[in-house]
Amino acid sequence: MPVDPYAVAFQQDPHPVYAALRASAPVAQVADHGFWMVTTMALVREVLRDPETYSNAVHTGRRTAPPPEVADEVAAIRAEGLPYLPALGLNDPPAHTRYRKLVARAFTARSLRWMEPQVVAAAGELAAALPQHGTVDAVASLARPLPIWTISRILGLPDSWRDDVARWSDAATASLGASAMPPERWLQVARDDLDYQQRIVEELGRRREQPADDLLSSLVAPHPEEGALTDVELVWLVRELVVAGNETTTTLVTDLVLRLSERPDEWARLRDDPSRVAAVVEEGLRLASPAQGMFRGSPARPRSPGSTCPRARSSSWPSARRTATRRSSRTRTSSGPDGRTSASTWPSDRASTPAWATSWPGRRPRLCCFVLRGIAHLPVAVHGRASSPPALT
Ligand code: HEM
Repeated sequence: MPVDPYAVAFQQDPHPVYAALRASAPVAQVADHGFWMVTTMALVREVLRDPETYSNAVHTGRRTAPPPEVADEVAAIRAEGLPYLPALGLNDPPAHTRYRKLVARAFTARSLRWMEPQVVAAAGELAAALPQHGTVDAVASLARPLPIWTISRILGLPDSWRDDVARWSDAATASLGASAMPPERWLQVARDDLDYQQRIVEELGRRREQPADDLLSSLVAPHPEEGALTDVELVWLVRELVVAGNETTTTLVTDLVLRLSERPDEWARLRDDPSRVAAVVEEGLRLASPAQGMFRGSPARPRSPGSTCPRARSSSWPSARRTATRRSSRTRTSSGPDGRTSASTWPSDRASTPAWATSWPGRRPRLCCFVLRGIAHLPVAVHGRASSPPALT
């Protein structure tokens, strides 16, 4: 069955295609892009658990290339920066293991306890800035700034850099599994990425001279066994941390606001019992799947004995966690990892229960990307703060 993940229709609603692929072509070749898509839980597991066969160090297929009219200019801007060095996201053991070890010391239980108040503070500031009543874009006013503010503070970057951090993150993901970008956007992305590299290298130098209580300082400190990371390694590693926690969290928060605004009963339960937050987030992750797919594979590597996957030049795995597909505005059908399906009906009355935010009806355009799948804008009506959920602050 032909599949085109770059098509707008697919990017706006890939789930019917995933369902058809799972049923009839769980390993499907994407014509003209040199990769295959695997769509069943069993195959995705097989790919992800076998880094010997399905390498993570795959660069083809992930990104689109600049158009010929700006290709030289983009290359010239890139040449002013540091050479690209894969850290965690595009690497295999043993290099991947080394980076994990070096990064893990910055994510100990103690540092996570230090980070949590940063997240809470950022969420509190954003919630406090919302109007008492009125319409806001939940993406612009909450879901997008939350991870940007948080990661900026965790890294130890000044609050005045938040817009720059957002710009750098956008630049890093702009060509990832995306539709064609205009030539001027390519140039801007290259300049933004160069700006990121130069400013972070300066920050790294400052932390080496004067360590602070932040993530950059932890990362520049030499590891007792592995030694110190170089500027080139750190620049790309930090960019991964900025990007990995950013788009994903924005997508998840937006999707949760949308789903909860459509389920006032669930919203009220959460407001009355904030201990439900962890379960709601977990379920939100299962349904939203901010990271729809990633790439693995290499033709040079041997195929594992018994493997049912092709030796693809590159393969992408659309999220096997996303297990529910909305069939109509009221009925949803879920299929579990075991392939069994179950259906449940959503309540239709959403006007009778007070909600903190109500989303506008209508289609919500998704980002033009098949790897990261977010909602670009989500206008919501904010109701009286007296009924606002305490869990948000
Ligand atoms: C809703 C939130 C998130 C989702 C859905 C998500 C999803 C994912 C997925 C699917 C991968 C695996 C990619 C692959 O194997 O190719 C991954 C890796 C990674 N994520 Fe997240 N992520 C989220 C939040 C975060 C946050 C907050 C951070 C921290 C800043 C983070 C840092 C990373 C890193 C460093 C990796 C690479 C790990 C490795 O290769 O060892 N992520 N994430």
